[in-house]
Amino acid sequence: MQMMATFNTNLQGILFQRRNIYPNFEIMKTSLTLLIASVLLYTACKHEMINPLPGSPQDTIVVNNPNPTVKSDTVCFNTEVLPLFITYCASAGCHDPVSRQEGVVTNSYATIMKGITAKNPNRSEYYKVIIDREMPPAGSPQLSTAQTNVILKWINQGALNTNCVNSCDTTKFTYSDPVVTLLTNNCNGCHGTKPGSGNVYLGDYASAKAYITANKTAFLNAINHTSTVVAKRMPPGNKMQDCQIGQFTRWVEKGYPQ
Ligand code: HEC
Repeated sequence: MQMMATFNTNLQGILFQRRNIYPNFEIMKTSLTLLIASVLLYTACKHEMINPLPGSPQDTIVVNNPNPTVKSDTVCFNTEVLPLFITYCASAGCHDPVSRQEGVVTNSYATIMKGITAKNPNRSEYYKVIIDREMPPAGSPQLSTAQTNVILKWINQGALNTNCVNSCDTTKFTYSDPVVTLLTNNCNGCHGTKPGSGNVYLGDYASAKAYITANKTAFLNAINHTSTVVAKRMPPGNKMQDCQIGQFTRWVEKGYPQ
């Protein structure tokens, strides 16, 4: 049985489709509770148990915003939070699934939730190390206050696996809005300081324009995740939204308007 409820937020026209409502496994500490919960869950949602492993992302909420010019107040995990953890923490040699520094991986909802306590920023290790300036290490690109505030708001809203679609305005395609923000949130943890991962530096307008002009096909393949070499698909493991790729592409095709 598929459980589904629709409700409106204070903003008109924003639809939340809450799917697959399971208890939050992260707060269940003992294996006994896990066992009981699994039994209860099994009987409650038999047909939905495609992925019954405890700790996997169970609670995906699709936020479809039909009017992207009106910004939803709900923080989108997939477009606002996950890209920050990928680009500022999960770069090669750090908290990517290969390097796993100190056992920490930050490239998915399930792995990030190992260091986050919903509605409790003080008990969210992966947030605290950032605002305490322990991470990213000195010398690596740092998150701005605006970016840490997005993570804080997301934790306070319940650290949900919100999956937003159609949440950007495709009529905008200049560098100042939205390209620089897309770069800051999706790329600059890896490409924002020289020389940049893979020797690709995109940290300012002139450098980004020069790089992309000289490597246009490779760049568009990278952001569209169509590069034949998987390691060249950008951002690694997490394709941007189609509408964001559209904004980027238009900026390139229109000759890099500032
Ligand atoms: C987690 C770190 C990380 C993030 C985030 C990231 N990149 Fe990369 N990027 C790399 C690495 C590492 C390489 C080198 C890959 C290789 O050559 O195997 C690379 C290579 C590239 C290349 C060269 C591809 C090629 O065909 O040679 C481009 C273009 C690029 N990145 C653009 C971007 C853009 C644009 C973003 C954001 C939308 C981004 N990257 C986000 C790490 C990252």
